[in-house]
Amino acid sequence: MPITFDTTSRTFHLRNDKISYLIRVLENGTLGHLYFGGSLAESGSYGRLSGVEYLGLSNRLGDPVALEYPTPGTGDFRVPALTVEQANGSTALDPRYTSHRVFGGKSAIPGLPSTYVQGYDEAETLEILLTDTPASLEIRLFFAIYADRPVITRAVRLRNIGSEQLTVRCAMSASLDLPDADWEMVQLSGAWARECHVRTRRLEAGSQAIGSLRGASGHEHNPFLALKREHTTEEAGEAYGLSLVYSGNFLAEAEVDQYQTTRLRIGINPEGFAWALDPGTEFCTPEAALAFSEAGLGALSDAYHGLYRDRLARGVWRDAPRPIVLNNWEATYYDFDEARLLEIATAARDLGVEMFVLDDGWFGRRDSDASSLGDWTANKAKLPGGVEGIARQIEALGLRFGIWIEPEMVSQRSQLFVDHPDWAVGVPTRPHTEGRNQLVLDMARREVVDYLFGVLSDLLGHASISYVKWDMNRNITEPFSPSLPAARQGEFFHRYILGVYDLYERLTRAFPQVLFESCASGGGRFDPGMLQFAPQAWTSDDTDAIERLRIQWGTSLCYPLSSMAAHVSAIPNHQTGRSTPLATRAAVAFFGVLGYELDPAALTDEEREAVSGQIAYYKARRDLFQRGRFVRLKSPFEGDGNETAWMTVSADAKRAVVGHYRVLNGPQRGRERLRLRGLDPKASYRVSVWPAGDDPISAANSGVRGGDELMRIGLLVAPENPVDSRSVGDFAARLFDLEAETPEADRR
Ligand code: DGJ
Repeated sequence: MPITFDTTSRTFHLRNDKISYLIRVLENGTLGHLYFGGSLAESGSYGRLSGVEYLGLSNRLGDPVALEYPTPGTGDFRVPALTVEQANGSTALDPRYTSHRVFGGKSAIPGLPSTYVQGYDEAETLEILLTDTPASLEIRLFFAIYADRPVITRAVRLRNIGSEQLTVRCAMSASLDLPDADWEMVQLSGAWARECHVRTRRLEAGSQAIGSLRGASGHEHNPFLALKREHTTEEAGEAYGLSLVYSGNFLAEAEVDQYQTTRLRIGINPEGFAWALDPGTEFCTPEAALAFSEAGLGALSDAYHGLYRDRLARGVWRDAPRPIVLNNWEATYYDFDEARLLEIATAARDLGVEMFVLDDGWFGRRDSDASSLGDWTANKAKLPGGVEGIARQIEALGLRFGIWIEPEMVSQRSQLFVDHPDWAVGVPTRPHTEGRNQLVLDMARREVVDYLFGVLSDLLGHASISYVKWDMNRNITEPFSPSLPAARQGEFFHRYILGVYDLYERLTRAFPQVLFESCASGGGRFDPGMLQFAPQAWTSDDTDAIERLRIQWGTSLCYPLSSMAAHVSAIPNHQTGRSTPLATRAAVAFFGVLGYELDPAALTDEEREAVSGQIAYYKARRDLFQRGRFVRLKSPFEGDGNETAWMTVSADAKRAVVGHYRVLNGPQRGRERLRLRGLDPKASYRVSVWPAGDDPISAANSGVRGGDELMRIGLLVAPENPVDSRSVGDFAARLFDLEAETPEADRR
């Protein structure tokens, strides 16, 4: 069993072959944290790890006692996990152990997404009940450990067992005390069109944090952070990960105290948050997933990829091959009619595309971003047969049909706004601040969610729609809901996200065959919370292949290939003006869920042939590109960032595709080699190079190579002869396809 309890030292041990997590009930009943890291023997007695701190904080103010769920005001002066204001105004808390239980599997969290099990033996959960008697507050801490993943998931439930109201001001999903501060913090930060750039900094005394106050997880910071040692690499060294299964305002923080210990915490951002906990009611935090690796950042990512791909995403699309789409956005923007769409779709079909996605502009009087959000009925001037008609015609071409919506929004120039001006989020005494000419619907209101469910059910029920791209293009200002009393306005942001989840839940249940893709101006809400409902997300509005190297590399720290939609677009690129070779654009977009975002009818014959070849290449390896083990080889965030390399490997290591990209070419590169990882050292691999050609790189690498050679010596990635480097050019990419040869012995 992965969870044991030593009754003498009152120590819980959550363990599997990869990790151990130790919790001790200290002498005074405070819940102490002893250890999280590599696996320790089950039989060991670890109570002594708490040393002199086993008493708890009594008469030892400010000591670096490691705690599971720290609270303020009673001797711990670091950042708290939980702050609850009591009826007398006090926020002091000192919860003590009351009881615990262990059960097979793991429980769902009401109203919130979370990871799950498919059988009770996949995971075990420890539920610890703490009580703060003066505050009449019960705190249930949930720790789940999967039998074969280096991950602990945590969540918390608070219950008011008294007769007076409590106000929850901060309720983190997890807090983790580490004994030293010799760490670097890795975060995924950026902006619109350059999401998830890897930023690394040494921990310093005091607090270092990332978060969001936008009402969505946001482009600026992803709800993920890792700690790594200075020498931790992709393949070696210690690393911790903290990831939040949540799509709203979040905080992820590392605090280094006066004794050089580190406290990590992750959860709903306490800024602006206040939840009125009435007597007898409960508040549930989102889930946090904590991972540990002794084998570098690569293994940390493996843990998150497997967990989120296989035990967070759900429904038929979790495992199903994802279709290759043609999205008309960059081909037409708002300027299209039925004939134009059919022209694009027909050309796409002829290239091998499987789904046509109709983006923004199909409804109301939507000819720009200035109007019509909320009026989800077809613009008959553009689509005389309505959505049903265009869907039918697209399907008649042999393609499936997908559609764009932005359900959480309303334009002031829309019928919906005329009918329900009060449904837009805003403070009645202030003007509304517009963003992209639009306002946000109050998803904290039940009637708004019900209305949207009705409208969208109608749309999905009447037309043959196989895919929905659910967009969200602005963040929330003037946060306020008239449906909440003054004392509850601090609940608004969380209630908004609960409303979004509720709508997603109802729609995915009612239309299980529809593939949902989440989007928020690209990666503005690319988070684990969304992945429960939409197993893939539009990674970024930036489709430039060179920009995408960094975006996709960074995103892959936490998110699997199956979650990253990546499209080939036209040149000059619409975000950067850069012109990259068509093969390079495809070689980047292959690593994820491939699509095209251009006008296929405008391609030259040569380009058409190239795109057909790309699609055929991808289809033949779709499982590898969407579900293979993603191995990062050369980081665009290191050195001069000129080179990037990564690979995807099948579970049995028999097949792999390596991508190598160089931004600017240069002469005299010498015998540059790229060492691979994750192969079978004993296997022989047939190597072929894409795009095929009689160039020096193909000549030098094609043929049969041992897995050991490929991992210890590597592939040649620059021409040996300086004259040959002229043939390479800037923005070059090459894929190396590896297929294990069947050994002679097995052939017989
Ligand atoms: C932002 C998205 O990220 C784009 O892909 C596109 O769907 C536009 N919105 C449409 O308005």
